[in-house]
Amino acid sequence: MDALNIISQDHSNLWRLATTIDHVAADMEAGAPVEQSFFNAVFDYIEQFVDRSHHPKEDDYLFRLLRLRSPEAASILDSLQVEHRDGPAKLAALRDKVSQASAGALSGGQLATELRSYTVGLKAHIRTEEKSVLPLARSALLEADWAEINQAFLDNDDPLFGEKAREEFRQLFHRIVSLAPESVGLGGHSEGTLQPLPDRTKAEVQLRVEGMESCYGRIKALKGISIEVRRGETVALVGANGAGKTTFLRTLSGVQPMSAGSIHFKGEDISRLRSDKRMRLGICQSPEGRQVFGPLSIEDNLALGAYTQPREQVAGDMEKIFTMFPILKEKRALPAGTLSGGQQQMLAIGRALMGRPSLLLLDEPSMGLAPLLVEEVFNVIKMLKSKGMTILLVEQNAFAALAIADRGYVLETGTVTLTGTGQELISNEQVRAAYLGM
Ligand SMILES: Nc1ncnc2c1ncn2[C@@H]1O[C@H](COP(=O)(O)OP(=O)(O)O)[C@@H](O)[C@H]1O
Ligand SMILES: [Mg+2]
Repeated sequence: MDALNIISQDHSNLWRLATTIDHVAADMEAGAPVEQSFFNAVFDYIEQFVDRSHHPKEDDYLFRLLRLRSPEAASILDSLQVEHRDGPAKLAALRDKVSQASAGALSGGQLATELRSYTVGLKAHIRTEEKSVLPLARSALLEADWAEINQAFLDNDDPLFGEKAREEFRQLFHRIVSLAPESVGLGGHSEGTLQPLPDRTKAEVQLRVEGMESCYGRIKALKGISIEVRRGETVALVGANGAGKTTFLRTLSGVQPMSAGSIHFKGEDISRLRSDKRMRLGICQSPEGRQVFGPLSIEDNLALGAYTQPREQVAGDMEKIFTMFPILKEKRALPAGTLSGGQQQMLAIGRALMGRPSLLLLDEPSMGLAPLLVEEVFNVIKMLKSKGMTILLVEQNAFAALAIADRGYVLETGTVTLTGTGQELISNEQVRAAYLGM
């Protein structure tokens, strides 16, 4: 792992934390009590791992070298570094507010407002680093710069950033999750529809999810999701990291418990059906992060996708996948771990197709891929769509997903906040500001 990966992983964790704080703020607005121990754990985490190590390492290595190589970076780095400097004071002020709220001197609603303004700032900071600083660093920094930056971020003897710190981080993160106050399920977002759903898709509804809820311990990650997919449609579910997209797909395919709501597939109530039975009905998922079996050959990986299918059709289906993805045929006997990221994504999609899906679930197929490969993966999805495949596409890459989708849903902290056709959502101001970086 290199510094860029470490930084992005930290951002991803921090984003999740911000989302969790938003959940808790919504609960407090709905009257939930202020749980000081939860906030202490969150603030301890931010203090230890962000203010004392992530930010200083960025300042001392990444930002310093980037200023040298790319003078136009100065203004953006200046303002980010002001935020780095102000971080500890902001945190101290928040700790103070939490004490006041738990002593009854501040209402839960007032504290929620403070917390939200904090998470808005935090998310904006992360977004700027991810969207402006890291791309610039990728293009402007020299190999020698990276060596120095990687060295700093990978230094395992470093008491602040080494393996031990990461272990502590994991423990603290789990503690945060287990301490979070129980959600009372009254999210702050109202469900909005841009326009009545288009009736140009006349096909029958194949999947209908109503009021789906799902929890991790005491955190309610899905707060009543309702969506439908018609036969032959490509439907996109877009949302930021931590919005609940993966949880939704996992609950839909039955590997994550559903605490409320119902799922109908092809007219049948499958809410209580085991996951392998759902797969037999044709709900097949290509998981987040690809998750191919590295040591197994490409052929064996594909065969695994067909474990619910009659043996005699496997060879023929595999040939079809090979026609679709010639590179997989060429490398069929090699371990899947030898494939590039883009090729592994093709394999993960191919493996899902081996289950003869009547509904194909794709969890962030573009994640972690270089722009050219992202395009290639979306071309594959377009091709499947043109063949009449019914597809539920989950993506953080909202623009690319909405561009090929018939309809889309916007997910925010476990709630659907907007729905409309792909084009309507792309041109919606709110969506553009929040997800498309425009
Ligand atoms: N294994 C887990 N344990 C505890 N909480 C989790 C776990 N996975 C996800 N969460 C919580 O659920 C929320 C939704 O996560 P996830 O479904 O992975 O979002 P997405 O796929 O949209 O990035 C996150 O904010 C996170 O706090
Ligand atoms: Mg996900």
